[in-house]
Amino acid sequence: MIEEKKEISNLSNNNSNEIEDNSKASNTNSLSLKNSTNNEPIIQVKNLTVQYDDRVIIDNISFDIMRGEIFMIVGGSGCGKSTVLRQIIGLEIPIEGEILINGEDICKATGKDKVHILNKFGVLFQSSGLFASMTLAENIALKLETSTNLTNSQILELINIKLTSVGLAGYESFLPSEISGGMKKRAALARAMALDPPILCFDEPSSGLDPVTAATMDELIKELNSALGTTMVVVSHDLDGVINTAQRVIMLDKDAKGIIAEGAPKELKEMKENKKVYDFFNRIPTSI
Ligand SMILES: Nc1ncnc2c1ncn2[C@@H]1O[C@H](COP(=O)(O)OP(=O)(O)O)[C@@H](O)[C@H]1O
Ligand SMILES: [Mg+2]
Repeated sequence: MIEEKKEISNLSNNNSNEIEDNSKASNTNSLSLKNSTNNEPIIQVKNLTVQYDDRVIIDNISFDIMRGEIFMIVGGSGCGKSTVLRQIIGLEIPIEGEILINGEDICKATGKDKVHILNKFGVLFQSSGLFASMTLAENIALKLETSTNLTNSQILELINIKLTSVGLAGYESFLPSEISGGMKKRAALARAMALDPPILCFDEPSSGLDPVTAATMDELIKELNSALGTTMVVVSHDLDGVINTAQRVIMLDKDAKGIIAEGAPKELKEMKENKKVYDFFNRIPTSI
């Protein structure tokens, strides 16, 4: 499976516009990328403040996401996890702060410059977002046809490789309605990976899935991260997923309107000095 994934990198990077960031991965050995680049930030969030109308949701937060890591944003419902993710992927502009993607500020970029930054991301939203009237192959092809100069046969080959890498070999001609919820998420992941983005973002990848299927999704994220060195940014409130998958976590809090803890899941599990963090990571119910 890993060989397969290296092949994916090579095939699509040769043709994609987006070779700058993952060039280290694409040229030779993607496995070496992760180890060699873990200490440099690929995303830097600096003094980010988000406000809707006159309500501040996120108040002056800063954090870095390192290249090649699985980074999770956790916290209770409504604390601003999806909001922060939308800012990172440039869907919304903050009232204050900067978000540097490989050193380029996505908040200030416009036109071609913004497209250039956006091409660094593959995004998997809470609902899979697949086009219902299109087969899985057509859903993936759409992205490849509009963003690359690949020939039809190259596109078909790439679709096959992408679907295989998420465990959906042979499902090219299925419609989204003909497959399970877990398979839909994996198909959406295959589509998000179509152009081999150096960063993949997930909003609640396991929501709506049964625990076994959710765990399979977590394993897939880990496997792809390890094989391709892709930086994974995952928003989640699923504790099992967080503990088993994340290398580093930030925990947001509604009252603090910001980050109340940052570190490896194991460290946060032991953070007795902060009750909210300790309770969350040790699954202690909060009083109502
Ligand atoms: N587009 C919006 N307009 C106004 N309020 C919003 C918008 N998006 C989110 N919010 C509010 O911001 C807060 C954080 O939302 P969200 O980021 O979705 O939380 P989470 O993903 O952690 O559950 C919530 O109170 C939500 O109602
Ligand atoms: Mg959310």
